[in-house]
Amino acid sequence: MKRVNPFVAKVTLFSVLCLGLSLPAAASSPERLGAVPQMGFNNWNSTHCRDEFNEQMIRGIADKIVSLGLRDAGYRYVNVDDCWANWQRDKNGKLQANPKRFPSGMKALADYIHSRGFKFGVYSSAGTSTCEPLQENRGFPGGLGHEKEDAASFAAWGVDYLKYDNCNNQKIAALQRYTAMADALRATGRPIFFSVCEWGENKPWLWAGKPPVDAQSWRTTGDISDNYASMLKVFKQNVVLDRYARPGHWNDPDMLEVGNGGMTDVEYRSHFSLWSIMASPLLIGTDLRKIKPAALDILLNKEVIAVDQDLLGVQGHQVRDASGIHVIVKPLKDGSRAVVVFNETDNAQDVSVTPAEIGLKAGRYETRDLWLHSDHAGDGSIAVKLQPHASAMYRIRGA
Ligand code: GLA
Repeated sequence: MKRVNPFVAKVTLFSVLCLGLSLPAAASSPERLGAVPQMGFNNWNSTHCRDEFNEQMIRGIADKIVSLGLRDAGYRYVNVDDCWANWQRDKNGKLQANPKRFPSGMKALADYIHSRGFKFGVYSSAGTSTCEPLQENRGFPGGLGHEKEDAASFAAWGVDYLKYDNCNNQKIAALQRYTAMADALRATGRPIFFSVCEWGENKPWLWAGKPPVDAQSWRTTGDISDNYASMLKVFKQNVVLDRYARPGHWNDPDMLEVGNGGMTDVEYRSHFSLWSIMASPLLIGTDLRKIKPAALDILLNKEVIAVDQDLLGVQGHQVRDASGIHVIVKPLKDGSRAVVVFNETDNAQDVSVTPAEIGLKAGRYETRDLWLHSDHAGDGSIAVKLQPHASAMYRIRGA
């Protein structure tokens, strides 16, 4: 299923353009928290709660992010998800690491992650226990009612990021629960990225990005799973929320499944293109110690990453959703715009996009294909044949 013949009408080959395609420095600069969407790794989509999730794995993944060139491509956070904690708090009520999985403790893990040039993230839930179902009649302790001591532990360990889930919430209002942890994190004095994981239940896009919570991101959907139907569903829920995203505050349609094996490479390319044009978090969710070259190529596409990380900080706007064809346009800081054309259907489709549809007036424009890495110039419609579930992604400069 390979996309063919991306440009067939009125678009001719153009030489290398000065499109300003370099990555922004923001990923490595001491930027305001969340000035660009978070990039990094989280183990959940590949391991869930299985025993393989442990400190060797996380350290090995951090090493792989470096050696595979992903750190240089902008992936900066290494985050552990549910099941890192011990079943009980210690005698002083403090969270502790599960001694089987993380015998060296969380501070040692954070130190290692930092030594490799990353920031370190952990997971908890705004409830009495986390989301992983009870095992041996015990759940992992949640943060509800323990916000201050847990935030203090996180800061003491050197945590830079908290994903805060919504399970076992005792039906206490989300605003109240997430505010309590946001206040506790701020009170530590350590900048800690606050990732609200409330699954869109109480429309967090309306409240999570402003005081008193003021989170850097909020989940807009339920959990993604590693199949095309799930990715499509999540995309459709998130794409219509573009007006709520802005620097420091991002919609989060959940972590990437690229590389996990349940979708084709074409589908994974669409997944990555769609997440990037939606200025979504790019959190790798596959075991990088086993990644295949095709999946790695997707995660390393710096031209697509640059669209996600663009400093203008605008989520792409869907200008067409008709007959299974989606066209999304994202304005970029240098005055150009990124465009994704996506065919959600099971049939190949010939798609034509007029300059007017993507906000261009008239005259010539220059186009960079961000997957084929080729340049074109033209003045008519963009015509592209898209195989089932495929997408094309461009960066376009024109008036
Ligand atoms: C919820 C979250 C997931 C993951 C699991 C862990 O389902 O939405 O992203 O963190 O909990 O149990």
